[in-house]
Amino acid sequence: MFETVSTAPPDAILGLTEAFQQDSNPEKINLSVGVYKDAEGKTPVLQCVKAAERRLIEDEATKSYLGIDGLPEYRSHVAGLLFGERVPAERLAVIQTPGGTGAVRLAADFVSSQFAGAKVWISNPTWANHQAIFQAAGLPIETYRYLNAQRTGLDFEGLLADLTSGPVAGDAVLLHACCHNPTGVDPTAEQWQQIAAVLKERRLLPIIDFAYQGFGSGLEEDAAGLHTILDHVGEALVCSSFSKNFGLYSERVGALTLVAEQADAATAGRSQLKRLVRSNYSNPPRHGASVVATVLADSALTAQWHQELAEMRQRIAAMRQAFVTRMRDSGVERDFRFLLDQNGMFSFSGLNPMQVDELRSQHSVYIVGSGRINVAGMTEENLPRLCEAIAAVL
Ligand SMILES: Cc1ncc(COP(=O)(O)O)c(C=O)c1O
Repeated sequence: MFETVSTAPPDAILGLTEAFQQDSNPEKINLSVGVYKDAEGKTPVLQCVKAAERRLIEDEATKSYLGIDGLPEYRSHVAGLLFGERVPAERLAVIQTPGGTGAVRLAADFVSSQFAGAKVWISNPTWANHQAIFQAAGLPIETYRYLNAQRTGLDFEGLLADLTSGPVAGDAVLLHACCHNPTGVDPTAEQWQQIAAVLKERRLLPIIDFAYQGFGSGLEEDAAGLHTILDHVGEALVCSSFSKNFGLYSERVGALTLVAEQADAATAGRSQLKRLVRSNYSNPPRHGASVVATVLADSALTAQWHQELAEMRQRIAAMRQAFVTRMRDSGVERDFRFLLDQNGMFSFSGLNPMQVDELRSQHSVYIVGSGRINVAGMTEENLPRLCEAIAAVL
């Protein structure tokens, strides 16, 4: 039977990583993958995570299965990080998931299984996997405008016009809470208010993808858009990931939080989400969630986490500034100052596919075909060479 199976196209970004690994140029630069790198170009284990793991080695009493919805104390911490005291626990159903991807997939399966005929609206552009995930869940996908014509900022009029005229009551709208991937472009506080008003008026279900809490302006600040939405709309699905802000990429730590207007609806929602999990991966992995729960249960470790998260965030901001200054000094015509208004690891550089190809083949600089760059891949050391290469292809 297998002889009838055709080869699937490789994943665009992971394919680039393979090409990068095979490149023998010692000065190669990889700005393609979505992981944080420190000043040495490494993706280290956070100190607070190491400390929590040491405790777990001593104290962990079992490796038995978790419940379908995961570790209870972890789930409480997720709710706390998202909402603090804003939403009572009985209105929430938090489900621990394998990473943020697992959360998005569970949200997609939930909408698809519960709301016949619902479509999902995603920004154009968005994280490449959104399309694939919603498609796999059988949800029809539509897009709303996001970037302006120069690809440097938000096309807010376009976004609002599309959300006002396209979706019908009961459709879902996927929004990035902060640090929009791939553009780094986020709505302002005032724009969040207007988006929330449209969601409420048109009775649309927000799916908030929150993969970068703490990578924009801070843990609380980055949740401001989410809070605005929930001030207007009583229901949402929120997808958390601790891959980036805890550096726990390979441990697959995430959560889907269903916010309901009433406690009964949250209870029913939880039961349906558990049913979906049971027939998929049965129950989530323990280790990463235990690490997060251990850190957040201890005030000293939590303070250490806040410090390490701030360092990551500040390093990215410093690299944005250094890149913009250096590009300006290199004398190229293109003005990169728009990068300073963007948040998180990613930005659209504005480089076209030909320039991206040339960067790779002539300079061993790896960037995604769309021109998306991972600012966190820049270091003091590789910046001069990177900027020279970009100036050359421009
Ligand atoms: C917007 C967005 N959502 C979800 C994810 C998935 O996160 P995880 O690696 O935790 O599955 C990512 C990861 O890159 C992302 O950028």
